[in-house]
Amino acid sequence: MSKILITSALPYVNGVPHLGHMVGCLLPSDVYARYMRMMGNEVLYICGTDEHGTPSEVGAAKEGMDIGEYCTKYHNRHKEAYKAFNLSFDYFGRTSSPQNQEITYHIFEQLDKNGYIEEKSIKQIFSIDDNRFLPDRYVTGTCPHCGYDKARGDQCENCTKVLDPTELINPRSTISGSTNLEVRETKHLFLKLPLLEAKLAEWVKSKEPFWPDVAYSIAQKWLKEGLQERCITRDLKWGFPVNKPGFEDKVFYVWFDAPIGYIGITKQWADEYPETRNWKDWWLDAKDVRYVEFMGKDNVPFHSISFPATLLGTKENWTLVDYLKGMSYLTYEGGKFSKSEKRGIFAEDAVKEFPADYWRYWLMSNAPESSDSSFSFDLFASVINKDLNGVLGNFVSRVLKMTSSKIGTEIPEGGEFTTAEEELTTALQEKINNYLKYMNELEFRKALNELRAIWVDGNNYISATEPWTVIKTDEKRAACILRTCINLIRIYAILSAPIMPETSEKIMKKLGLQLDDNIKLKDFNAAEEIKALSAGQKFEVGDMLFERITPEKIEELKEKYGSSK
Ligand code: MF3
Ligand code: ZN
Repeated sequence: MSKILITSALPYVNGVPHLGHMVGCLLPSDVYARYMRMMGNEVLYICGTDEHGTPSEVGAAKEGMDIGEYCTKYHNRHKEAYKAFNLSFDYFGRTSSPQNQEITYHIFEQLDKNGYIEEKSIKQIFSIDDNRFLPDRYVTGTCPHCGYDKARGDQCENCTKVLDPTELINPRSTISGSTNLEVRETKHLFLKLPLLEAKLAEWVKSKEPFWPDVAYSIAQKWLKEGLQERCITRDLKWGFPVNKPGFEDKVFYVWFDAPIGYIGITKQWADEYPETRNWKDWWLDAKDVRYVEFMGKDNVPFHSISFPATLLGTKENWTLVDYLKGMSYLTYEGGKFSKSEKRGIFAEDAVKEFPADYWRYWLMSNAPESSDSSFSFDLFASVINKDLNGVLGNFVSRVLKMTSSKIGTEIPEGGEFTTAEEELTTALQEKINNYLKYMNELEFRKALNELRAIWVDGNNYISATEPWTVIKTDEKRAACILRTCINLIRIYAILSAPIMPETSEKIMKKLGLQLDDNIKLKDFNAAEEIKALSAGQKFEVGDMLFERITPEKIEELKEKYGSSK
């Protein structure tokens, strides 16, 4: 048994998650956590909301709420939505927790003590009417390059040029629209990344065989270009006040304390049961921990460069990432998900339309792994109707119905394996090995292809052996075929559990079984499992596992959630 630490990038608390967020890190990390538990490992799966920064301040002001209360409100909404998706976090915490503050302070003190922190004065835009400094992306104005009049101070969305907010023509505050702005000098703290470059490069190199290409190449590209000092403080009110004399009126930059949040949230988890849980077992001088991170690809530089450098700079022995899974983007009906334009389906609405497993299955089999992928209700319905209804659901109901009507509601007795069953078992073992291999390698689309192929084999087996014809002349042979099929159903439930936990439980229940901790995927042996259920055990036909999605329903959904642009 190994210890596997799994984190999913911490979603910004402002706003609610849409399908792109779900598939970008939350869902794949859950599938992996469930899989790793079923492989017999000790898993700690951590997530939470990323709460600091200007967007929270602005969001709270818009709703006329206190920031703390605003964050609690949205933290709970995230939590609810993830629960509805059956995400199996060991703890879903918050970056604003006292535990995170404590660890952030500790890490900062080590960095400062080791000479990795520097004071510098920078020029920033101050909005007199808002009585605050404006972060770069909260200054709007006309782009000096292309003339676009809604360019943001950090980058022009129209021509993609990177900007300095002082370059904008007719600058105004994005918050209030005020043009009463001035440039002021202010002192900030910087992390001296260039001093950490050699150490970091050595560490990146040591990870080479384990990192997926995209993460490794992004890290290499940054190192090649040379690391810049990074400002880790901000002139805001909302955040952890900087624990250094002369800087008490500033807070740490959200990207400084957010990844430390993985550790802080682990401490929140441990503090609930201090006798039996210890956050250091996972993070500090921890032994035999394999750490796997999930995130959208825009987060990769922070996780492969800034966060590891921050931890290395403490000269303490923190757990660093071993495998980093970066996901691409999911588009919606050919365009972007957009909250403001009300286009795209949000997680909390999605589960009101269909059970979570429909989404979990669709999203994982179309996960944007090597490139972006796109969601549309047509594609969604066709996959659900074909794979879940047509293949898995149909097999389960056909086998159970046929057995109960022709023989009875007990697993039928008699008959011996023939070459058909031997071949089925051999093919099954091969595909299971592939499925497990791909899951181990976090190649989710490939893993789901194998799973689907395993379901298809069951349908092919029953079509080829024709128990409904055989039963007229050879009851024992028909019993053997149907018993084999019922065993396949149990195997399907177990293999599908990381992806569709509710469906798996439903299937097991039909067979009078439970999906408990004793069921393991490790060393899964097809020859044994195909005979696991013996004659005489009761089963029930019960309801259909899935419902077909009709063309009318598809139209209704398109209408409701907005279509392509
Ligand atoms: N909130 C960030 C985002 O949604 C991710 C933060 S990941 C963390 O892009 F590790 F820094 F927390
Ligand atoms: Zn421009």
